[in-house]
Amino acid sequence: MALRAVPGGSPRTPDIFWLGKRAALRLVIGLRSLPGKNEETFEMMNDVAARGLVLLGCGKMGSAMLAGWLDGGLPAASVYVLDPYPSDWLRTTGVHINVDLPCDPAVALIAVKPQMMGDALPAMQALGNGQTLFVSIAAGTSLARFEADLGAQTPIVRSMPNTPAAIGRGITAIIGNDKATAVHIALADALLSAVGQVVRLDSEGQIDAVTGVSGSGPAYVFHLIETLAAAGVAQGLPADMAMQLAKATVAGAGALALAADEDPAQLRVNVTSPNGTTHAALEVLMDAKTGFPPLLARAVAAATDRSKELGRG
Ligand SMILES: NC(=O)c1ccc[n+]([C@@H]2O[C@H](COP(=O)([O-])OP(=O)(O)OC[C@H]3O[C@@H](n4cnc5c(N)ncnc54)[C@H](OP(=O)(O)O)[C@@H]3O)[C@@H](O)[C@H]2O)c1
Repeated sequence: MALRAVPGGSPRTPDIFWLGKRAALRLVIGLRSLPGKNEETFEMMNDVAARGLVLLGCGKMGSAMLAGWLDGGLPAASVYVLDPYPSDWLRTTGVHINVDLPCDPAVALIAVKPQMMGDALPAMQALGNGQTLFVSIAAGTSLARFEADLGAQTPIVRSMPNTPAAIGRGITAIIGNDKATAVHIALADALLSAVGQVVRLDSEGQIDAVTGVSGSGPAYVFHLIETLAAAGVAQGLPADMAMQLAKATVAGAGALALAADEDPAQLRVNVTSPNGTTHAALEVLMDAKTGFPPLLARAVAAATDRSKELGRG
């Protein structure tokens, strides 16, 4: 399906509206599966509608999440967006744009680039140290940084999403500070489920490894597609056809890995006949010195190390 350019530069497909309804379903199922917390968490979601949700930055990620929430039934009148250049799409949603904020919103979601944080965060300072839950999707911005800017009593959830969030197929890891209660975490989980799966971390330190695996991971897969297509061209295929084969193979194998009961190792074994074609290729790819295992280990370690460096400023 062709990408539709959403004014403001946010690429979204019409599918996102359908995915939004699934996100709403996930939200309800997710909340219902929370043992002993259903009522409390439903109350918090009602609270979001009643007290309001502030979205700081409505670019690619902010737009994708907002589309999911609105499709999930959050009233547009409950949403307050701050963004210097609101997109045409945003203007059609009916949310409040660049107006005074409610004094005690239930959630403030931070979706500006890390380098804009210094300029953007002061607009939110009045909401710190209160009852507002802050949720950040900004890469490399620590809980300590938010506590320093917003106040140490502020409940904050830090998260690391990835780019497939733009079509509702992302995965986001979350971790809260010590002021974020289980209900806060559940609320952040439900809100971020609007753009894909959510996993919960045990410690903030794990976010660097998450960055190395899923945050930066889509780029590794794009490069796999590029190199698989180039290898097909080297074996005599037309470039367009090689690219079509490579994209569909990666997308199809990914979908199968998600849908199958068997783990990826077993799926690989299932398609590898002794001395067959796949076996010949896997002997190259699984070589302990030159194959995927050492290569990906080095790539993920490099991204993880860089994430640590960026986090130190
Ligand atoms: N994209 C991803 O897959 C991904 C993955 C992991 C984490 N993240 C994180 O998600 C966050 C958002 O990324 P994105 O890709 O959505 O970026 P983006 O498309 O650039 O969106 C950021 C938005 O914030 C706006 N903005 C800039 N300064 C502002 C201010 N002072 N107050 C309010 N809004 C302001 C920008 O407006 P202008 O365009 O006019 O500057 C833009 O609309 C980043 O922190 C990034 O680290 C993104």
